[in-house]
Amino acid sequence: MSLFRKKNIADLLRGGEGNGLKKTLGATDLVLLGIGCIIGTGIFVLTGVAAAKYAGPGIMLSFVLSGLACAFVALAYSELASMVPAAGGAYTFAYVTMGELVAFAVGWALVCEYTIGSATVAAGWSGYMVGLLKSAGIMLPTMWTTVPAEGGIVNIPAVLITGFLTYLLILGTRESVALNRALVFIKLGCIGFFLFVAAPHVNPLNWQPFLPFGWSGAVTGAAIVFFAYVGFDSVATAAEECNNPNRDIPIGIVGSLAICTVLYIAVAAVLTGVVPYSMLNNSEPVAYALRSIGMNFGSALVALGAISGITTALLVFLYAQTRVFLAMARDGMIPQNLVKIHPKYGTPHIITLIVGGGVSVLTGLLPIGVIAELCNMGTMFAFILVSLGVGVLRKTQPDTHRPFRCPAVGVIVPLAVLLCGYLIANLSKETFVFFIIWLAIGMGVYFSYSRHHSTLGKVQYDE
Ligand code: ALA
Repeated sequence: MSLFRKKNIADLLRGGEGNGLKKTLGATDLVLLGIGCIIGTGIFVLTGVAAAKYAGPGIMLSFVLSGLACAFVALAYSELASMVPAAGGAYTFAYVTMGELVAFAVGWALVCEYTIGSATVAAGWSGYMVGLLKSAGIMLPTMWTTVPAEGGIVNIPAVLITGFLTYLLILGTRESVALNRALVFIKLGCIGFFLFVAAPHVNPLNWQPFLPFGWSGAVTGAAIVFFAYVGFDSVATAAEECNNPNRDIPIGIVGSLAICTVLYIAVAAVLTGVVPYSMLNNSEPVAYALRSIGMNFGSALVALGAISGITTALLVFLYAQTRVFLAMARDGMIPQNLVKIHPKYGTPHIITLIVGGGVSVLTGLLPIGVIAELCNMGTMFAFILVSLGVGVLRKTQPDTHRPFRCPAVGVIVPLAVLLCGYLIANLSKETFVFFIIWLAIGMGVYFSYSRHHSTLGKVQYDE
């Protein structure tokens, strides 16, 4: 059946040969790369939202739960990334393992992850920027800084930062390793500073009751703060540039996840210990907590760090989205015209503009909680399919060379699938409805366009 036609690993590897990528990255670079993409709006904003609305101080537990789900996925992901080092990430992995239809669904879910994720990150950026300006005495009118559901008209700062970074991407700006390093240290410094100055103000009474909304509240919280971990998969895509992928990729992924998990739990503990959890439902909870204990200067400093950290996460997300579209267009899944390269800048300017435009509309008009949930849904859906793909490939191609093997695959893969499924089941009904509509649109695109234009339809394929 052509719906399940697959790409061949050997062909992909041949395609990747001679791409000139230098093998320069070591384990430490990968850990830093991971932290650069991971820390952003999730910890700086969603922790407060999820604690206030769902988990209470149990938000610490939520971080453990979603961190565990990511750790299992990460191990499975690493195996595929080391076997199939090709651009397109999860989309390409699914093409190799489960065929075209599933690959399209994964690609479509990734569009949800990156586009809606970018909108969420931009909304987080806006919250800190507006707060920082406010502490400098510059008050922007609420109706131009909040979305309609929160009583405003449009979130202009979020639209502006999206527009600016889209423009940089069209000009060909890519985050350099050096810049990423600097920003990672700023982010870590900012979190370290927060922990250092706020920890002495923790009042353990604020941690009681620990689970005001019960266990289910902590799980819903986990399904939301999952967003804070989104992005770790980007480490896997650097497989081709590693000295020793077998050792470095798992260290990079698991190492960055472990560091972020510890920091997240610490921030969650201090945040809910310094102020009652019910007061954290605002657009800049970390800065707010510092202000509430009288540290206005520290609050501004943390806001500055958050803004620079979130900016880099947004740039990476917008860039990743164009990469997914490029991979899909190369395979004929979406029209090639959309990814035409600009003659002067050498970048796919049309698709970048479309992505930037879409993200601007979403971030300008929708509440951060709603878009974060939708992003998580798309991401976990893709993660489940990728994890299943690892199991499938172990059966169908047991002898293919695997530079990195997922340990205890018979345990890790089912755990990854079950835990992601459990978290998905705790997302809101609206998120399900949105996502099903999104998938239905995708299937419409696949059956009316992609299936007939697929480049695999024109060459021999594996059944
Ligand atoms: N993990 C990234 C963030 O929290 C997406 O902003």
